[in-house]
Amino acid sequence: MINKTLELLDQRRSHRAYKKTPLTDEQIDALVYAGISSPSANNHQPWHFTVVKNQELLNEINQEACNNVMRLPEASRNARFVDPDFHIFYHAPAVIFISAINQPGKKLDCGIAVQSIAIAAQSLGLGSVILGLPNFAFQGDKKEAFEKALHFPNNYEFAIAIAVGHPDDEKDAPVRDYQKISFVD
Ligand SMILES: Cc1cc2nc3c(=O)[nH]c(=O)nc-3n(C[C@H](O)[C@H](O)[C@H](O)COP(=O)(O)O)c2cc1C
Repeated sequence: MINKTLELLDQRRSHRAYKKTPLTDEQIDALVYAGISSPSANNHQPWHFTVVKNQELLNEINQEACNNVMRLPEASRNARFVDPDFHIFYHAPAVIFISAINQPGKKLDCGIAVQSIAIAAQSLGLGSVILGLPNFAFQGDKKEAFEKALHFPNNYEFAIAIAVGHPDDEKDAPVRDYQKISFVD
């Protein structure tokens, strides 16, 4: 079976190179609207969305994440950090940070919201990549400064982020593992 929504789900990829073309305000509004329209347990909406276009701030967050990762034992570092040109935001023109209220289970709601944004981006002809690695920027001395700069509300913490822009790469779909599905009749 196929329809527009199923096509978008099938065609979404994680893009890791972006053109410099900025997003329009209309596009950004549509993306954050997709985020705040997501379901959440008990409709608690335990999230806050922060749209960042400021590349200097993104560079600072990238640098701090890299510094904190480099303090980890080599074996536990994400392999991407081996590349000296690696940038956790891939120089995307916009990154949406989702922070979650600091209570158990609330990051799950943020995970659902980030997928809503990824699919909304796809529907607008944009590309995206969901980002967990920025979490490393909040594991050192600059945690509070970044939380303030990103307008996280009090008692909220980094949950997930998503970079969005006009993709400058092409990707095949990863192999879909049908063994991960069971049917119980
Ligand atoms: C919770 C989560 C965190 C992720 N964090 C990162 C990340 O920090 N950097 C990155 O390049 N990709 C990240 N990804 C993207 C995955 O690597 C990607 O979804 C996966 O390889 C499948 O590829 P696809 O998205 O193109 O289907 C993340 C994905 C998820 C769902």
